Amino acid sequence: MPMFHLPIRPRRNRKSPAIRDLVRETSLTASHLICPVFVHEGEDDQLISSLPGCTRWSLKGLVDEASRLFDLGICAIDLFPAIPDSKKTPEAEEAFNPDGIIPRTIHAIKDKVPGMTIMTDVALDPYNSDGHDGLVEFRSDGNFEILNDETIEVLCRQALCHADAGADIISPSDMMDGRVAAIRATLDSEALDDVSIMAYTAKYASALYGPFRGALESSPKTGDKKTYQMDPANVREALREAALDEAEGADILLVKPATLYLDVLAAMRQSTSLPLAAYHVSGEYLMLKSAAASGWIDEKSAVLETLLSIRRAGADMILSYYAPLAAEWLKQESIYQ
Ligand code: PBG
Repeated sequence: MPMFHLPIRPRRNRKSPAIRDLVRETSLTASHLICPVFVHEGEDDQLISSLPGCTRWSLKGLVDEASRLFDLGICAIDLFPAIPDSKKTPEAEEAFNPDGIIPRTIHAIKDKVPGMTIMTDVALDPYNSDGHDGLVEFRSDGNFEILNDETIEVLCRQALCHADAGADIISPSDMMDGRVAAIRATLDSEALDDVSIMAYTAKYASALYGPFRGALESSPKTGDKKTYQMDPANVREALREAALDEAEGADILLVKPATLYLDVLAAMRQSTSLPLAAYHVSGEYLMLKSAAASGWIDEKSAVLETLLSIRRAGADMILSYYAPLAAEWLKQESIYQ
């Protein structure tokens, strides 16, 4: 006999795995995951010391990796290039070299893994000798400025170069004002109206990008990125950016980092009907990796719960360095599906 008269007992909906599956509100599958991948011009595949578990691939190595990811059910990758210092310039010309590492990688992957959706990052930091996402103008008083409109011209050339090579989705991560409209107009004027734009809408000036910058050796040489990336204190500003990117023609809006900004994702989910992406960044990855390596948390369950929480907050898709491992785990057992 029940001790209390409790007609409403929420535990009834948790009483078996089958019922929990029936009432689950959020799912996580490999098809929600996008894998960021690093490529360089060398012949060897290098383990990245600042990002344990990740590799700076040779072109050939990345083609094989893309095929492995595709077999795991990951159907989208985002390409990031490690450019040798000798090719970095103040004007970042290598960013739109049609024979550069990114166009060559796109061709090679499309050739061998045609079903793979290829996203490319559009920003100047890997190519710019100043390590900033935009062009830098130094002043005689020692200060410097990131030039907005001049940068956009270079970003448009970069976007066109990637789209010409066959990129499916162009992903501007630079945070310049007005770049989505300019890139859209450039692509459309070249009959590339089929190429999508995933805009980094709310990219915060976060402390969690350090390991990524180590992977590409792309840290800013001077100052920080606070005049273009957003202040971690703000959420209404993200909605303003979202309204602009939507009006400028973005197809997908992105929030970055992910877990410290779940409230931003949730607010954006309420304010737009566009698909949302979240970038689980290098520092977030390493916080889990290092805690797991110390034996303090169970890696698999902590990672899957983290990715699920990003979906629950409103992300349709998640970029994560954990994508390959998560896809393997999700293949082994049906959880959160
Ligand atoms: C730069 C860029 C950054 C990341 C993706 N694109 C770093 C930065 O803004 O300095 C970070 C990703 C990560 O930390 O995993 N355009």
